[in-house]
Amino acid sequence: MKKVYVGMSADLIHPGHINIIMEATKFGEVTIGLLTDKAIASYKRLPFLTYEQRKVVIEQIKGVEHVVPQNTLDYTANLIEDKPDYVVHGDDWGSGVQAGTRQKVIETLKKWNGKLIEVPYTPGISSTQLNNDLKTIGTTPNIRLRTLRRLIAAKPFVRVLEVHNGLTGLIVENFKIEQNSTVREFDCMWASSLTDSTAKGKPDIEAVDMTSRMDTVNSVFEVTTKPLIFDADNGGRPEHFSFTVKSLERLGVSAVIIEDKVGLKKNSLFGTEVPQVQDSIENFCNKIRVGKTAQITGDFMIIARIESFILRKGLDDSIKRAIAYIEAGVDSIMIHSKKQEPEEIFEFCKQYNKLDNRVPLVVVPSSYNKVYEDDLVAAGANIIIYANQMLRAAYPAMVNVAESILKHGRSYDCNEKCMPIKEILNLIPGTR
Ligand code: SPV
Ligand code: MG
Repeated sequence: MKKVYVGMSADLIHPGHINIIMEATKFGEVTIGLLTDKAIASYKRLPFLTYEQRKVVIEQIKGVEHVVPQNTLDYTANLIEDKPDYVVHGDDWGSGVQAGTRQKVIETLKKWNGKLIEVPYTPGISSTQLNNDLKTIGTTPNIRLRTLRRLIAAKPFVRVLEVHNGLTGLIVENFKIEQNSTVREFDCMWASSLTDSTAKGKPDIEAVDMTSRMDTVNSVFEVTTKPLIFDADNGGRPEHFSFTVKSLERLGVSAVIIEDKVGLKKNSLFGTEVPQVQDSIENFCNKIRVGKTAQITGDFMIIARIESFILRKGLDDSIKRAIAYIEAGVDSIMIHSKKQEPEEIFEFCKQYNKLDNRVPLVVVPSSYNKVYEDDLVAAGANIIIYANQMLRAAYPAMVNVAESILKHGRSYDCNEKCMPIKEILNLIPGTR
């Protein structure tokens, strides 16, 4: 019996998949190389179903004899291990992201006279189309909530962008670019206290109460499916924090970040220009424990934000706190800095990476914004938050237009700076 290898994501099984498997069985015994979340996330968005769920489904399909994990988009390692006589694939991978992968399959198979068989693409149905349709149906709080942990496990890093209303949520949800044959997009949303407050015309001092903050999250969730990290300032009193955790979980928020400060909240980017007081390690650890005890799902994450650099307490203090917070059960650490250069973040990373029980690390390059994602990831960052850029971009654009109308006594002169009326009418599906 000849050996046939079929690489597949097998997320939303449709007749196109069945056709490929049926064709493959004509050549011999079929092994499915089931792409892991990591392999899929390396070139497109995370699959809807987890690896285990996809495996359960594909194993039951007639003609499938074996299922093995394929850990990379590249087939080479699995092919060398299995030495199949044939690889069967749809004929739609000759160009785009997978063209290089296809070429390597052909080269590798040559080593033992194996052949690539390409099955004509089944018209009228595709996984991309099904995935887009699923997006319009929406998601559930449970599915959304657990996505952040899946992303951390599957991606080299999780790219997060600030949102403060439904429209900014839609940008994170839908906007993507193709670069170096891979699709680049934001994985997750950040509910910033600074931009939520500012958008409401209020100072970032917790003047916008939790009910209103959650209302913003609700409007964002109505039109998106991607996960969200919530900025809860210092989390309030431990007695109140436990309610916040439960409420966020109920909404489907994936993580809450709390900062180790006390007293009237002031934005960290003021640094020591304004009075800001750091919490004691003991008190903050207690708050973490209260939060962890309150949460209902295993997937929700509590992230401790260390403000030692903001308050000029230094590297030793920040590491001491990281150790204590991890000990108290926190799921991730955020290290903040308001320096223009990333040096202190890199120094922190060096020490932090040596910890045996290191948890995922969050960084927020607002002030040290020249640094590239790749360098932060190489230093050890797992989550990168772009914390306020959407609102900072929108405000000057609006002021500009307001100024032009006042100056000219008409709106014609700023029309170029505005989206055409036709486009704004068609921006949101269903407006017509
Ligand atoms: C926010 O975006 O609200 C933050 C980050 O907490 S920072 O403004 O840098 O403090
Ligand atoms: Mg904030």
